[in-house]
Amino acid sequence: MTLRVSPRLDAIPRYVPGMSTAEALARFGVEDAVKLSSNESPFGPLPGVEEAVAAVAAGLNRYPDGRAGALRARIADLHGVGDDQVIVGNGSGEILLLAGQALLDPGTTVVYPEPSFALYPHLAQASGAEAVPVPLDDAGRNDVAAMAAYVDERTRLVVICSPNNPTGGYVPAAAVERLLDEIPSDVGVLVDEAYHDFVSEVDRGRVMSMARERANLLVTRTFSKAFGLAGARVGYGVGSPGWVDAIDRVRPPFHVGAAGQAAALAALGALTELDSRVRTLTAERERVQGALRAAGVAFTPSQANFILVGPFAPAVDAAPVHEELLRRGVIVRDGGALGAPGTIRVTVGTAQDNDRFLDALAAVRGARELRDNPRAAV
Ligand SMILES: Cc1ncc(COP(=O)(O)O)c(C=O)c1O
Repeated sequence: MTLRVSPRLDAIPRYVPGMSTAEALARFGVEDAVKLSSNESPFGPLPGVEEAVAAVAAGLNRYPDGRAGALRARIADLHGVGDDQVIVGNGSGEILLLAGQALLDPGTTVVYPEPSFALYPHLAQASGAEAVPVPLDDAGRNDVAAMAAYVDERTRLVVICSPNNPTGGYVPAAAVERLLDEIPSDVGVLVDEAYHDFVSEVDRGRVMSMARERANLLVTRTFSKAFGLAGARVGYGVGSPGWVDAIDRVRPPFHVGAAGQAAALAALGALTELDSRVRTLTAERERVQGALRAAGVAFTPSQANFILVGPFAPAVDAAPVHEELLRRGVIVRDGGALGAPGTIRVTVGTAQDNDRFLDALAAVRGARELRDNPRAAV
């Protein structure tokens, strides 16, 4: 007899992460592959992080602070809000799932962008709510005006992803504000700002300041991307005490480990170095985009630490491009798996990583042009 599980699970696909360098070695025999597939930081932990993690190692027989009080207080301080306006999570992904658990029921709806982060459909599927995916606009941004139009009396949650994964499109704060003004003020709005640190627009940070006052707004951020702590699993949300209380009720008791809490606190003590690393990566993003433009390669202009490259010319399918890049030791994501067929998503790495990607793309392009279609623009 097989285990009887909830029929809701049928609709929940498994999350498929980007390929690891070990897998690239096993499958393609590449010794020195560069991983540009998971939007991680190419840099090691910020100064002070390793020491802080080492310092908690001796006490790992004890449970961590279940509230992550010191970390909440530091984040509250950073954003000028009360401690009761901060929630932490085992990555910001956990906060997303908990938000769904706290707000959704069968018969309600959740409105979210598509294509976007793979976890959003789970919020509906896990709670038996109805999913309302809304296509992006032509610039790869969440179409918040269209999303507002899908909010009805059954809607309990609207998820906005800005910058959006996998396109990198950024929603201006004024557009988020319009949506908040337009929809009923008891409908939860979660703005996922996992890639906020890489935004170069002048209104950056304004949505977070709205979270100080709006009772229905939660803004989530993560230590996994710019802060370089993807392995530590820490994210956070800032919003009203009502939002924070709702998530506190459904969260597991000790969901953020002691090492993660220590790492995040230490990283928040190294904001000058963080800034300098972010500046390096955003400058690299602009350089890579410039090189793609010069080579006539299509891409979606990005405000994040990744670029959606393509769609490729009709004669050139993205899947073989993806595979040929892998053979050359450059691991990217096939956009088809991210809801953006005909594209690849590449994370911005160090200058050396990015050159490797650009060189490999040029080589793949040259090879494919000769073989398939002499005039194809990849
Ligand atoms: C848009 C977006 N939100 C949230 C996350 C979750 O990140 P984490 O759980 O590591 O904080 C990711 C990870 O890739 C993401 O792309």
